[in-house]
Amino acid sequence: MNAPRQPRTTRLVPADAPGIARAAQLIASGGLVALPTETVYGLACDATDPVAVASLYEAKGRPTFNPLIAHVPDVDAARQVGHLTAPAQMLADRFWPGPLTLIVPAREGATCALARSGLSTVAIRVPGHEVARAVLRAVGRAVAAPSANRSGHVSPTTAGHVLADLDGRIDLILDAGPTPVGVESTIIDCTGTRPVLLRPGGLPREAIEAALGAPLASPAAPTAETAPLAPGMLASHYAPSVPVRLGAREVRPGEALLTFAAARPPGFEQAKACRDLSPSGDLVEAAANLFAHLRDLDASGADSIAVVPLPRQGLGEAIADRLGRAAAPR
Ligand code: TXA
Ligand code: MG
Repeated sequence: MNAPRQPRTTRLVPADAPGIARAAQLIASGGLVALPTETVYGLACDATDPVAVASLYEAKGRPTFNPLIAHVPDVDAARQVGHLTAPAQMLADRFWPGPLTLIVPAREGATCALARSGLSTVAIRVPGHEVARAVLRAVGRAVAAPSANRSGHVSPTTAGHVLADLDGRIDLILDAGPTPVGVESTIIDCTGTRPVLLRPGGLPREAIEAALGAPLASPAAPTAETAPLAPGMLASHYAPSVPVRLGAREVRPGEALLTFAAARPPGFEQAKACRDLSPSGDLVEAAANLFAHLRDLDASGADSIAVVPLPRQGLGEAIADRLGRAAAPR
């Protein structure tokens, strides 16, 4: 991938009061700062500043047609950024702060067009991580923050993952240890009459449907003429460098194994490396471990990564979605 035009000195600092103040100051002056959220580390910049947003796209190597989520510290700030429709208001009251992103009609000026990729709608989220919210409060305007990885790579759940992908491309990394949820936020399109699940994520579908008292709709399949609603949903997105084989009931020669609930499929002894998403079979723990384990197995020297069959309920839907993308042909 291309080097950034201007190499930057990337500092890694603890997420204490001085670190948070420095992060806010850098963001407010057009800088690029990786910070922890409860889902994954985000790469933050001023969402009102098109130059900052453009440099963020460049640092990530991200296609500019992919719109960014506007992060704000609370529901009041969210109302300045978009028009909260009735379902959006309801879900915001119930689940923010938390791993939920809502798509609503945008308010002009609260985010720049480049951050929205020119869309008239905006993705908004109030993260459930104290460090993220402290930075957002100090910045005082919407902050764009995609996951802090090179475009197409696995999302970062530690400061070390961010450094591995973005050293020399961003200004600061706030280190607050591993992110608790481990998969990105659930995205719900609230612009129509019926809320639509655009991306399964850290807030399980079942919790949202229970709050709504109705099932979530599925996105209309994109046609050749219509761009996909959430372009980040493009097939190959969470990609380790080696192929990923899903539903594996045995380990083949040269493979590393991603297992669950202490499953030991035939050939286990010859696996190049093995990681268990959750030895006790807990899907919350599995989500938190997913991206770090994929990175470890990717770095193990194996020819490919075999993944055992996993349950689909709760966070299993988001885990299956990310693994499906990791396994998609590129
Ligand atoms: O948990 C998360 O959501 C993390 C943390 C850092 O907050 N952020 C994250 O951002 O996952 P990103 O940029 O990797 O994913 C944002 C997704 C993309 O799939 C994008 O296409 C979609 O949100 N999106 C953004 N604005 C949209 C809009 N107006 N309509 C539909 N989809 C939108
Ligand atoms: Mg991402």
